[in-house]
Amino acid sequence: MNSMMNAGRGVILILAVSAVFFSFAAATSVPGQTQNDEQAEMKLALDLAKLLQSARTVISNHQNLINDPEVGDKGLTGERVLAETIEQYRKATGHDPRDFDPQSREGRLMRAELDAIREVVDESQTLINEKGLGFKGFIPAVFGRLVTERLRDKVATELQIKITAPPPLVRNRKARPDEWEQQIIETKFLSPDWTRGQVYSEAQKNGVQSVFRVMVPEYYAASCLTCHGGPKGEIDITGYPKEGASEGDLGGVISITLFRNNQ
Ligand code: HEC
Repeated sequence: MNSMMNAGRGVILILAVSAVFFSFAAATSVPGQTQNDEQAEMKLALDLAKLLQSARTVISNHQNLINDPEVGDKGLTGERVLAETIEQYRKATGHDPRDFDPQSREGRLMRAELDAIREVVDESQTLINEKGLGFKGFIPAVFGRLVTERLRDKVATELQIKITAPPPLVRNRKARPDEWEQQIIETKFLSPDWTRGQVYSEAQKNGVQSVFRVMVPEYYAASCLTCHGGPKGEIDITGYPKEGASEGDLGGVISITLFRNNQ
């Protein structure tokens, strides 16, 4: 590979635009990366996002059970949530998330996420099974964040998934968008021209680090508005002030970064 040459070209480009960080649109290729690779990476990123969404849906489906103060042991084990997540994912995609070759990047990362989902539920058993406590704060958003944090512990050099949101909507400081994420949210997803639901991707090179980033927009459904809707400023059941959002508004983004050098 002619990496020396490419690195040199990168330096010239940086100087030319006098930016520390520069990026390519997904349509143009990064040196050494074929169009085909990007298609595979896009598919992987979307599969990882779909798996996270499937797991959140399972938690959402069991929200009443989780919040029930009368029931102690709820049988909502990591194993059960994982099985239902796999079923949910299969319904959405038509394939099993365990089907990837475990030696491949896809197989490794999907399995890491499946493990993270099971572990987070298993580690939350005391809370989930606490009798006499109604609302426990174990909701899809918190669960989703815990899964992404666990995933980072497992495969930090290969993958980062973060659930972020437009800055005025951010509740947990850990979810704040970085500069690039904020820019994509503001100039793409919130632009009136943006096709609703369209995903944004970009290959980036920062020094020696090469990454592929995918942003998956998510919109508020009616069910989200008990916490994120109106009246704005009123405190919701979780203790946060409501954002006054409406159904269909951009509520958040699943931001996926695949690191290319460390596969
Ligand atoms: C029971 C109240 C409640 C409901 C219902 C709810 N959320 Fe949230 N949401 C929260 C809380 C609390 C957080 C902060 C979680 C944390 O600590 O990471 C949050 C965080 C988020 C985040 C991450 C960014 C941030 O602000 O920290 C997104 C995105 C989000 N919610 C979107 C949604 C969407 C979309 C729905 C509906 C499908 C929804 N929420 C339903 C309470 C709720």
